[in-house]
Amino acid sequence: MGKIVAVSNQKGGVGKTTTSVNLASGLVELGKRVCLVDIDYQANATTNLGVNRSNLKASSTDLFMNQVPVQDILIHVPKVEIDIIPAKFDLSNVEGALLSDDNKNYILANALEPIRDNYDYIIIDCPPSLGLITTNALIAADSVLIPVQCEFLAMDGLTQLLNTIRFIQNKKQYAERKLIIEGVLLTMLDTRSNIGYEVINEVKTYFREKVFKTIIPRNVKVAVSSSYGLPVTEFSPRSKASLGYKSLAKEVVENNE
Ligand SMILES: Nc1ncnc2c1ncn2[C@@H]1O[C@H](COP(=O)(O)OP(=O)(O)O)[C@@H](O)[C@H]1O
Ligand SMILES: [Mg+2]
Repeated sequence: MGKIVAVSNQKGGVGKTTTSVNLASGLVELGKRVCLVDIDYQANATTNLGVNRSNLKASSTDLFMNQVPVQDILIHVPKVEIDIIPAKFDLSNVEGALLSDDNKNYILANALEPIRDNYDYIIIDCPPSLGLITTNALIAADSVLIPVQCEFLAMDGLTQLLNTIRFIQNKKQYAERKLIIEGVLLTMLDTRSNIGYEVINEVKTYFREKVFKTIIPRNVKVAVSSSYGLPVTEFSPRSKASLGYKSLAKEVVENNE
């Protein structure tokens, strides 16, 4: 049964989408079958894989609002061998529309159940909030991967995220399911400044062995690759960011064997 990993941090711009897309691509290179789930209404993961949003028959919005089966939403992206549940901007309407739905926190978990066996990993790119959509992701997930940007105030807001994780861990206990921390990933390290290294120390002191050994460096190829609709691991395989994400994929696989 495939492992469901939610990539989450309610702070925007910390590398959630970049990590989701490139971890997915790195796992494919290691021979894993991977599905990427885009549940951020900004649809960056969808765009970063070069999927044209205007041609989509269905998106993650339909999964939440119209009970459309995931099999009818999934699209295969041949150039990277990833299946994706794409997102569209109208996903921003979901939180309001589902407020009074009793089952509102379990929609994603139920939707992914029928396809779990088809993959080794299902990676969920979460939105920058701790609202209903993120709750759905954390309930569906077996683990959460937390990207933390190597910048000033990096740890800000992490207490809130950890509280949310603890809350959901308790909720899931009854269903005899778990939510573990897959790891904390340090991203966008600028090797020329000291602040990044200070953040690394701070994060390691707090999270200890939960911090991935791999640290992703800041690298211009990341932005360039997404504008070409490709993961950096494909666009510029030898770039520092690509090597970082390939190493992360190895670490994730090793930790799960
Ligand atoms: N390692 C990196 N080096 C340089 N730029 C990066 C790197 N990782 C992400 N970025 C850029 O930083 C911005 C935010 O990253 P993104 O993955 O979209 O974060 P989030 O999904 O958390 O909002 C994007 O413009 C992305 O291209
Ligand atoms: Mg994002």
